[in-house]
Amino acid sequence: MTMHPTTDRRTALALGLAGLAGSAAPTLANAAAAAGARMADKALPSPRRQERLADGWRFALGHAADMAKDFGFGRFQRTYAKPGFDVSPAVQPDFDDSAWAMVRVPHDWAVELPYALPAQPVAKEQEDMAAGHGFRAIGRDFPQNSVGWYRRKLPVGAADKGRTVWLEFDGVFRDCKVFVNGYEAGGSASGYAPFRVNIADFLDYDGGPNQLTLRVDASLGEGWFYEGAGIYRHVDLVSAAPLHVPQWGTCVRSTVDGSGARVAITTTLANAAEAAGSAQLRHRVFAPDGALVGEIAPQAATTLAAGAQATVNADLALAAPQLWSPQTPKLYTLETSVLVDGREVDRTITRFGIRTLAFDGTRGFAVNGQPVKLLGVCNHQDHAGVGTAIPDALHAWRVAQTQGMGANAWRSAHNPPSQALLDICDATGMMMVAETRLNTTNPEALDELDRMILSSRNHPSIILWSVGNEEGHQGSERGRRISAQLVARCKQLDPTRLTTQAMDKGWDGGAADAVDVVGFNYRTDKIPAWRQRHPGKPVIGTETASTVATRGAYANDAAAHVVRAYDTEHPWWASTAEEWWQVVAAEPGIAGGFIWTGFDYRGEPTPFPQMPSVSSYFGAMDLCGLPKDNYYYYRAWWRRSEPLVHLLPHWNWTGREGQPIEVWVHGNCAHVELLLNGKSLGRKDMPENGHLAWQVPYAPGTLEARGYNAGKLAARDTRVTAGKPAALRLVTERTRLAADGNDVAAVRVEVTDAAGHLVPTADTALTFALSGALTNAARIIGLGNGNPTSTEPDKGNARRAFNGLAQVLVQNAGAAGGARLTASAPGLKPASLDLYFHA
Ligand code: GAL
Repeated sequence: MTMHPTTDRRTALALGLAGLAGSAAPTLANAAAAAGARMADKALPSPRRQERLADGWRFALGHAADMAKDFGFGRFQRTYAKPGFDVSPAVQPDFDDSAWAMVRVPHDWAVELPYALPAQPVAKEQEDMAAGHGFRAIGRDFPQNSVGWYRRKLPVGAADKGRTVWLEFDGVFRDCKVFVNGYEAGGSASGYAPFRVNIADFLDYDGGPNQLTLRVDASLGEGWFYEGAGIYRHVDLVSAAPLHVPQWGTCVRSTVDGSGARVAITTTLANAAEAAGSAQLRHRVFAPDGALVGEIAPQAATTLAAGAQATVNADLALAAPQLWSPQTPKLYTLETSVLVDGREVDRTITRFGIRTLAFDGTRGFAVNGQPVKLLGVCNHQDHAGVGTAIPDALHAWRVAQTQGMGANAWRSAHNPPSQALLDICDATGMMMVAETRLNTTNPEALDELDRMILSSRNHPSIILWSVGNEEGHQGSERGRRISAQLVARCKQLDPTRLTTQAMDKGWDGGAADAVDVVGFNYRTDKIPAWRQRHPGKPVIGTETASTVATRGAYANDAAAHVVRAYDTEHPWWASTAEEWWQVVAAEPGIAGGFIWTGFDYRGEPTPFPQMPSVSSYFGAMDLCGLPKDNYYYYRAWWRRSEPLVHLLPHWNWTGREGQPIEVWVHGNCAHVELLLNGKSLGRKDMPENGHLAWQVPYAPGTLEARGYNAGKLAARDTRVTAGKPAALRLVTERTRLAADGNDVAAVRVEVTDAAGHLVPTADTALTFALSGALTNAARIIGLGNGNPTSTEPDKGNARRAFNGLAQVLVQNAGAAGGARLTASAPGLKPASLDLYFHA
């Protein structure tokens, strides 16, 4: 039997998925299996060369308003007179960039900029926009920080002559121009949609330097949230035979048919040669375990004129398919070969899943015929320490943290997700709502929509295309017309999926009439009455809750920009976690909801839109992915077969002895008993989808919650009064990482007392160092502490703890070996953690 190379431990490590505590074991196994399939791409010799361009980049800031400081960009009236000349010396191969910084891609330059307000006088809107983007000194008011230049040599040469060569950019923020050997080869206005740049014509195949240069202009933003700046997603170089399958040229659609499935494969075949040519296609399908389960032998050859493309359809049946679902994210692999005279000249690998999706206004949502409630999170792409330049392993960690909470769905707000994130969602069973950036029908918006769908339609994780969010015209006839056009385009490119739009009003007409699944942003309590007016129309909560909380804080303090983490605080348009979830949980016809948000993100510092608040407070987790208390509310009811009690607040209230403290328990056990220093304070029944509360006169010691099911102790949680900070502790789920230059350990730093109890109020100044025999095996790529008012640098080796915790992101630097991470603070016992990197 022919086998596709399958998983090994290394590939699981490479994806950053092995051994994550707190996430479901089956998920990890499946992730590893999918990762194995991906490794197969590398393991097989392919006539196509695909190389990730991560290292070797040089970076410098240009200038959006001063040509001299922008490497002369635009200095000549005749800039565009003759291709290849006069744009800027920085686009030419002989330009000296040795003074530019060396950076890795993904890269976000905005996360290293200072925090600043525009110079006085500041118009209100300018201040609001600055707040929206997290007060980073970027945009029209900071032209000196808003243009970035990247340069890199391209690994091409004589062997690529006569082939088609292109670059795949998964996302560049924003408005970028791509130059090769001085020629403007392409670019993208969008900061989020992926794009391809053909470069074969501009290359030098005879030993020349082959210079790639990008000018990236982030002067204008697209969002009201932090958006980063630069080449913040992957870049690949592809060199393929003239007769080849172009980027996004494979579309796999499967239909479950009784106990079997039909797989329809549409392939674009392209001829980049200067002469006509003919080729045949061969397809092989491998099951999740790597076994060859289907083959379509080469059919009649397709003849293509020079520069022409053709679409070739094929179809095969699979017996007893292993279906993809959130619990069983089984992935098949399609291998497509282009044959010329029987010889393979190009090969592509496409992962796909076989599953059915159904939205129903009465029954809700179903996967493979089984009802599934969408337990969703909305997220921006942003993490402590790295901004939008999230390494794959950190994406995987974020998905695992989210699944740990019980979520099974993710809405990529308000832009298309990265391919790296989609691969992880495919592999782990996280369902995705992918959203286009622009709800309009001008050519740019339509092109961005096309790029989102063509790049992503094979990913089984995607369950819906979203065509808009809170658009000004959403409730109008114009809004309906626009969304109807976008929906029609979605259906044309992908008839297998339905569409949605996130709306905050106007649901009785307008865009709600154009989309398949109506999205409610907040106002969840209005959904039941709306459903009566629109029987049978599918509906989801595209945004729910928007609770605000500071992790580990239990008293509001407006002067200090602190919001307590009980489930009581939210802006006027929003609700508590409990309020929205009780509505959605009670109505099977509401397919689910997506909380705003899973993670805090920079910008939109609600409820304090002034500095020092620089991040949002909306997350169930903070900017580092460290859980706030509401995380456990969802964890209790979204993973309700696993008994849980979670106690809040902390139990360090010196000075408040004898005074009542508001104590809450999130959990799913039938009864909960609360004890202070071993003495019972009574037992209460846990309300369905609710929480429990007590007023407890403070006395230092141990507060304990015991959860009982059927009379038996099923879960417990304690809060202990901690002493002074005395030591540090480093904790991570994975100490064995891949030596691939990409893998990341997200390390939690805890400040403890002498007895090892977390000190929940500690804001200790911490420093970090890497040491060990192979120090250069690792690097610290970012730091965070989850404090929305922290303006400390994200880079470097120092950060304060916040409410007892901080985070360090350690990345393998390409070499195998080990490294020791040490955390220290004056007067405290340091902590160290050994990381091992395996080739
Ligand atoms: C919504 C919006 C989100 C975010 C959120 C905050 O109106 O779609 O992007 O701003 O409110 O609650």
